[in-house]
Order: sequence, then C-alpha cells, then structure tokens
Amino acid sequence: MVFSLNDFLMSVSFVLDFVEMDFAGRRTNHGKRVAYLSLRIAEQLNFIPEKIYDVLSLAILHDNGMCEQRLRERLKAEDDIPFSLIERTMEHCVIGETNIKTYPFLTDPINVIKYHHEHYDGSGFFGLVKDEIPISSQIIFLADSVENNFDLQNFKGDNKNEILEYVQAARGSLFSPEVVDAFIEVSNAPGFKLDLRDDYISLAIKNRCPLYEKDLSFDEIERITRLFSSIIDSKSKFTRRHSSGLAQKIEIMSNHYHYDDETRMKLKIAANLHDLGKLAVSNKILDSHNKLTNEEFHKIEEHTYYTRIALQPIKGFEDITEWAANHHEKLNGKGYPFGLTAEELDFNSRLMGCLDIYQALTEERPYRVPMSHKEAMNVLNNSAEQGFIDVGIVRDIDFVFG
Ligand SMILES: [Fe+2]
Ligand SMILES: [Fe+2]
Ligand SMILES: [Fe+2]
Ligand SMILES: [Fe+2]
Repeated sequence: MVFSLNDFLMSVSFVLDFVEMDFAGRRTNHGKRVAYLSLRIAEQLNFIPEKIYDVLSLAILHDNGMCEQRLRERLKAEDDIPFSLIERTMEHCVIGETNIKTYPFLTDPINVIKYHHEHYDGSGFFGLVKDEIPISSQIIFLADSVENNFDLQNFKGDNKNEILEYVQAARGSLFSPEVVDAFIEVSNAPGFKLDLRDDYISLAIKNRCPLYEKDLSFDEIERITRLFSSIIDSKSKFTRRHSSGLAQKIEIMSNHYHYDDETRMKLKIAANLHDLGKLAVSNKILDSHNKLTNEEFHKIEEHTYYTRIALQPIKGFEDITEWAANHHEKLNGKGYPFGLTAEELDFNSRLMGCLDIYQALTEERPYRVPMSHKEAMNVLNNSAEQGFIDVGIVRDIDFVFG
C-alpha cells in the first residue's frame, strides 16, 4: 500500500512527546520543537529534501532511548528521575541509535542519534571534534539545547535576545559556527515564533515537511512497526515481551483461522502498536507494586485512547487502528475507553482483546508471577461466562495454546 511516512512520523512524535513529559518538569511538544528547529536549520543550510526529511525524522526520534526502563535501573531510581539526569547519560544515545537501525530513512544516516550530544570542541560523550560529528547531529544538538534551556512556547522579545546570546556564546565550543549562524538567520523570520507555539507546532512541521509516501508491502510496514513495539515494550521491565509476544500469538491464531497474508500482517501491526499509548502513561503507575488508586487506574485506561489518536490519521491503517485501539473494550460495554458493545466490536477486535489478556496473564507483573496456561484459561473462561469477552475465541485460544 502507499504508506505515508509523514503520517507515521507525526503519530510517533505524538506519543514520544508524552515520554518526555513523563519526566518531572518537562514541557509539552519537546520532540516536535526540536524537529521544527532542526528542519529550519537544515533548509537554511540548503540540504536536499531527502536529507531535510531525515533530519526531521531523526529529531523527532532523538530521545527515543529515554523510554528504556534499564536506564532508570542504572540511575537507581524508579520515580521522579530528573530529565536532565537521563539526558546526561551516554546510554540514551546508544540505545536510541540501536532502536532505530531499521527505520526506512531516505539517505542512510548513520550515528546521528548516537552523537546527538557531541560538543563541537570535542568535550562531549564520545570526544568527537568538529566535522567528525555528523552535521545532522550538530543540528539536533543545538535545537535540543535551545529547547531544553528556554521556553520556546513564549519565544519573543526579551527571551529571544537571551537565546541568541546563548547560542553566540557557545559558537565554536558547544555548537558548530555554521549551525549557529543558520539558526540565527531563520529565527529572524516573523512566523518563526508563532510556529513554535503549542497550537501551531504540528501544523508548522506538516506545512514545511517534504512529503514522502512509499509503496510498501504490509510485511515491510510490519517490520517498521516492530521497532516501535520494542520501544514500547522496553518502557517497563514487566512488559519486556508484551507486544512482541502478542504479535507472535496473533500470527499463530491467524494461521489457525486461515487468514490471508494481508490480514495476518495487519493484525501483527496492530499487535505491535496496540499499547503505543502506554508511552503516555507514567512509569510510576506502570511499575507500581501497590494497588492502583482510582486516579491511577483512569490514567492507565487512557492508553488505548492515545493509541487511537496516534494511529487514526495514518492512511490505510483504518482496520489496524480499530484492532489496536479496541483491545480493552468488552462485549457487555464495560470496557474502555469508549464502552463499545458487541455490535461495535468486530471479530478481530475481540480476538485482540482476548489474546491481550492471555498474553498479560502469562507474563510476570509487579504483584504476581506469570500464570500457567491453565490458570490463565480459568480467568478467560470466567470473563467469557460473565459476558465480557467472546466465548468462541476463548475456546479457540485454549485449543491452540493448550
Ligand atoms: Fe538526548
Ligand atoms: Fe531532547
Ligand atoms: Fe493495553
Ligand atoms: Fe497490551
């Protein structure tokens, strides 16, 4: 199908920006602002459209490595890790680079995320100097530093001068002179400060971003989404294999039902992305060993809403969005986020819902060990008897995995 990389990128940025907000004191739209600034600088430096597109994509993805639970472990803290502490770890650069290795960039950018904290004078994590640092990394570093240190939502008069003084002062030390000059040039455009506002930032990116649509098979799209499924799974140690496990099981069930290749792949894509919205839920809640409060439970319930909002704009993802975002809806209307009912839930939405429960029950959780097949089936059967989930599908799951 014709796959819009632009649509997909905006969906990814929508959820990744929540991760940044999860860290104490983060403002909204960090990744998007970094992306917008990077895009403008790349244009100013006369990059070819493919390279502009890649700088933008990499800027959106620049801090994807921060999602990793193992970074929190290394910092020996579960809660309230200051954002600046994670930003000061070299690991988030290395993890981030590894995570996106198979993303379909247009120009083969290498190590841009790995080196997005290098300083022009060689005083960064890896000690790279000047041209040894990929130019796209130099751009993202300046954009990221400006976004981190200033309130760009209110980019105007006084703080504009402060920002310009800041980049000038670090010209040749932290930042590449060429990139500083390009930034100063674009920041003079009258619409610049408006584009940076929360209300307009997404549109500003869409308006300027070169359009890339690729004719990709569902196999290829599945491979791209797998990369995000591992970012989602890495967010908590209890979900390390959750989306990938669900994708495996949905494939097995698809074979059982003799689905055609396209449906099978679409279901795998939906499984890879079904918990995309979990990136928007704080680890304080996801990893909590205590019984969740009502408020915390409502926060968790929001994740499928975000999955829907993120996936819905992607052309060709109509079925996938339903199957991914309905996995906590129940036949009797007691599910979330919309309380849909049996008439509104197609077979594959029901299948995804049942398998998600089965997958979760057979995984470890903070408050229990993994259940055996038999124990998990008891829970599923109970739920089916009470009218929550589909009796026939539960029987099929028992047959296939028993
Ligand atoms: Fe970073
Ligand atoms: Fe950042
Ligand atoms: Fe979920
Ligand atoms: Fe799930």
